[in-house]
Amino acid sequence: MATLKTSILGIEFENPFLLASAPPTASIESIDKAFEMGWGGAVLKTITPDDLEMIEASPRYATIKENGKVICLQNIELLSHETIQYWVDGIKYLKKKHPTKVIIASIMAPVVRQQWQNIVKRLNESPIDAYELNFSCPHGMPERNIGMAIGTNTDISILITSWVKSVATKPVFVKLTPNVTDITWIAQAIESAEADGFAAINTVQSFLGINLDTLEPVLNIDGHSTYGGLSGEAVKPIGFRCVAQLRQNSDLPILGMGGISNWQDAAQYIALGADAVQICTEVMLNGYGIINGLKSGLLNYLESKGFDSISELKNIAIEKITSHEGLNKKSHLYPSIDKNKCVKCGKCARICSESEYHALSLEKECMKLNKELCAGCSLCSHVCPKEAIKMCC
Ligand SMILES: Cc1cc2nc3c(=O)[nH]c(=O)nc-3n(C[C@H](O)[C@H](O)[C@H](O)COP(=O)(O)O)c2cc1C
Repeated sequence: MATLKTSILGIEFENPFLLASAPPTASIESIDKAFEMGWGGAVLKTITPDDLEMIEASPRYATIKENGKVICLQNIELLSHETIQYWVDGIKYLKKKHPTKVIIASIMAPVVRQQWQNIVKRLNESPIDAYELNFSCPHGMPERNIGMAIGTNTDISILITSWVKSVATKPVFVKLTPNVTDITWIAQAIESAEADGFAAINTVQSFLGINLDTLEPVLNIDGHSTYGGLSGEAVKPIGFRCVAQLRQNSDLPILGMGGISNWQDAAQYIALGADAVQICTEVMLNGYGIINGLKSGLLNYLESKGFDSISELKNIAIEKITSHEGLNKKSHLYPSIDKNKCVKCGKCARICSESEYHALSLEKECMKLNKELCAGCSLCSHVCPKEAIKMCC
């Protein structure tokens, strides 16, 4: 029998699914409900010094939908509106009621030693399991020189990590931004300051668009807008890339996230090096109940593969990622067209000829491939409206 139980830095998780720091973890009542429903843990909505002003804009969300389904969410939400004392009391309450659940405190403060250390010392009074330093919020905070402004500066990231490490009584994860040229530079700096692990990714800085009727921003706050953070399914490949790059350069534990909407996404994060995963947008869109499908799906998958635990899945795909130089350039696939599915619309041939090659043509009501002209790029298989083309040897 496989198990979803796992252990990270001595912290026992009953399953690897955590709520990410976000609206679903903004109150003790909500987290209590999520724990009842089976989540393995929660990262609290980012806690700040009590005097750091948090005035929200309305509206603060905008989405892009495809066939009615949200594929990404842009938000400009700020951080927790609750006091440090609210969280200290709340963590004590939650831990008493749910001793097997993992609670991680996300924190952020101005670049002042005493302010970071004060939050940590206050939270040290509670039965917290770990800290997560929010060096990565891309909106609102960077203009106050915090959030992503910290996580894009190696010197300041090192400084704050060491301030926190010197007083924290529990492991310290650092939550990284994908909005950098190379996430491994900042990760190396943070590791040198003795961080215990990484969380990645926070949202991707974005601008959702302009309404061409009104000529005003889609995320419209009284006629104006600002840059926000993109999350949900569309950012998953960025999250995968960041987690894989972190794993290729470090052995520290990673809490992977970004665009997870089902167990398959979570399994891929783990195969790319994540020790556990966090989820935000999918929970905001569909509620805490998604945990049942996540747990049963991942457990069934582990069993189908003959794995006893997620540690056997972890890192399994990482060695498959190499440099471009390291790829086998002798490997060459060709399109194979399923005649039963092909409707002879000719789109594959048109796109092939307009995108460099002239390998496909419609001849006598039949698609023909000129192997000598085919670069094996696979574009035809992606544009075929009937999915009639597969790439084969
Ligand atoms: C509305 C909203 C609020 C968020 N607030 C926080 C926050 O307070 N602290 C934080 O570290 N991340 C915050 N995040 C980022 C998420 O924790 C997560 O890193 C990101 O959304 C990617 O995961 P997802 O695609 O599952 O949503 C927020 C995200 C959203 C959508």
